Amino acid sequence: MQQRQQLLLLLCVCCAALVLGEVLPLEPDFENLQGILPRAATRSDKLQLFQSIWGVLRSDFVDDTDKAKLLYTQLGNFRRDEQPCLSGPTGRSVCELQQEVRRHLKMLMSQRLANLLNAEENIQSYGMYIAASIEPALVRDILVNAVEDVYFHRPLDKLVRQLEQLYTDRDEVSFKMMIEAELALYWRYQTMHDSNEVFLFNVARVANRIVTHHMYASVDASLQKRMAALQESLPSVLRLLFDPQGFCLLSGSDREYLYTTITDDWNYGLNGRQVFTWRQQNYTDSAGLIRAFLQEPNADAEAATPVFTLRGEYFKWYLYVDPAEGNRVGALRSGSPSSSTSFWTIGYLDNVLIFRQRDLTMCVAEQHDEERRRVKMLPGQLHTPPSEACQWQPVHCAAH
Ligand SMILES: *[C@@H]1O[C@H](CO)[C@@H](O)[C@H](O)[C@H]1NC(C)=O
Repeated sequence: MQQRQQLLLLLCVCCAALVLGEVLPLEPDFENLQGILPRAATRSDKLQLFQSIWGVLRSDFVDDTDKAKLLYTQLGNFRRDEQPCLSGPTGRSVCELQQEVRRHLKMLMSQRLANLLNAEENIQSYGMYIAASIEPALVRDILVNAVEDVYFHRPLDKLVRQLEQLYTDRDEVSFKMMIEAELALYWRYQTMHDSNEVFLFNVARVANRIVTHHMYASVDASLQKRMAALQESLPSVLRLLFDPQGFCLLSGSDREYLYTTITDDWNYGLNGRQVFTWRQQNYTDSAGLIRAFLQEPNADAEAATPVFTLRGEYFKWYLYVDPAEGNRVGALRSGSPSSSTSFWTIGYLDNVLIFRQRDLTMCVAEQHDEERRRVKMLPGQLHTPPSEACQWQPVHCAAH
């Protein structure tokens, strides 16, 4: 008995040394784990070595992600090069062991990620750490786990933005990881049957950012398919807002569409053309076709509300507000919008959109003549919902 205990102790010390100390202090040595075995070591000897390392790891280094990651990789190599799962009891044990280490690794990494999210710390570099040297399926499991962990503790719309941090500029692996994370969050939301408009708006925004990104073309087809399924399941108002084909806007009060005049009779000062609603219910045509463009946030305004420009597609002129004309909405004749009067924040509610600049809200105003109403930015419409004159429903434009 005494002797057996000593032996066990020796083995543990030895393994600890293997993992930590003299023999394998550095990664290259660890990577060459099998080099320390006698040349003639059988596969079952090697399995035993792996098992004892796992034992030490679990008892003495239970929080050490690096070591778990190395062991996991080594087991993977062993399985690939020497000992496939299907061949006999040793094969089975190898794969069981690898599963066990995988579960452990998943738990360590998803907990750490969840802690960073809860503490609102940047997750970019930890994301890179996860993605490095671990297969995509495990990365995905880790993300799903982490999302489940934090789901009830974080404001959901904020979580969407936090997960965006996973993407590192020009890095494709991190781009895919960000997509996986947003998908995990969205489907979790769906499973919970939650209802959160700000969250949905942010998901639609990120989905748009993803699918219009130049790297998206090189993402594998199955991931693209899952992204498309996400977009399909978003409310149609949000799909339209980000539709590359554009949309028309009907006023909430009269269902009259907003359009930019197409002849010089309606020049607006020297700057552009006038914008009206046309007093015929549900009528639309290409003079009303608009596209919303999300402005890239600058780095120090990460959490700020997303800002858009709105471009009338007929002439490619941008909607803007003229303070000198009682805050009427017009369309800028040319160029790209330069001043804050061309930047909009967009709210989403039920099946309508709300367009704002600071404390002003875009609304249908007084009649201009028999056929038209003016469109103006009005104060005092910050309550939710604002009056129907300040709600806009996006619809597909009829092609005339
Ligand atoms: C406009 O569309 C709405 C909703 O589809 C409908 O209730 C209304 O009757 C339509 N109005 C006209 C004049 O077609």
